[in-house]
Amino acid sequence: MRAALVPLVFALGCDTDFERMIHQPRYRAYQATPAFEDGMVMRTPPPGAIARSRSAGPPLVQTGKDEHGDAQRIPVTVTRELVLRGQDRFAVFCTPCHGPLGDGKSEVARRMTLRPPPSLLDPRIRGMAPGTIFRTIGEGYGLMRSYAAQLPPSDRWAVVAYLRALQLSQGVKLSELPPETREEAKRWLQ
Ligand code: HEC
Repeated sequence: MRAALVPLVFALGCDTDFERMIHQPRYRAYQATPAFEDGMVMRTPPPGAIARSRSAGPPLVQTGKDEHGDAQRIPVTVTRELVLRGQDRFAVFCTPCHGPLGDGKSEVARRMTLRPPPSLLDPRIRGMAPGTIFRTIGEGYGLMRSYAAQLPPSDRWAVVAYLRALQLSQGVKLSELPPETREEAKRWLQ
């Protein structure tokens, strides 16, 4: 029955020209054209043009690596804005698996019993160089996929900066807080 339907669909297709997008006048790559002075269809990008897939910035910011390996410091200026951007991106792309506090408590973790997303507050991950976390986000790690397509390098650094703030905020000692924050925290703890 299905085999008999297929030619019927094709026959209908011919009458109602479904291919009009394919059969329109257009040039193909590498063809000649009188439209431009050099007679070529393909245009040379203007000097200084950067491919959309490669945003501008020094190699250290793009790759998270220096001559010794993974960057030991965040190579962009950490501002409040950057951390807030990181918080926003973390909420969208990391929270579903690593949990809002980064402690690995999430619905996904609950169901991924074999190898759940780890707590990002784990001493081993706290001790990771910023460049290593940047690389983990960009390349993925084990079961975790790459988030390079969703997070350009600038956003990856923002997430790294926020994760640092999150790690600092979780399990901080009362005595380590600045005085005003300490007073506020004491009120919360009562
Ligand atoms: C779909 C679930 C999922 C999402 C979303 C996710 N991760 Fe992961 N992540 C995992 C899993 C699972 C592992 C452990 C992988 C393994 O051991 O094979 C992991 C591991 C890690 C590690 C530890 C790597 C190591 O060397 O041990 C870091 C750091 C990390 N993730 C950070 C992030 C950050 C930052 C984001 C957001 C940009 C994120 N993850 C988003 C599932 C996820």
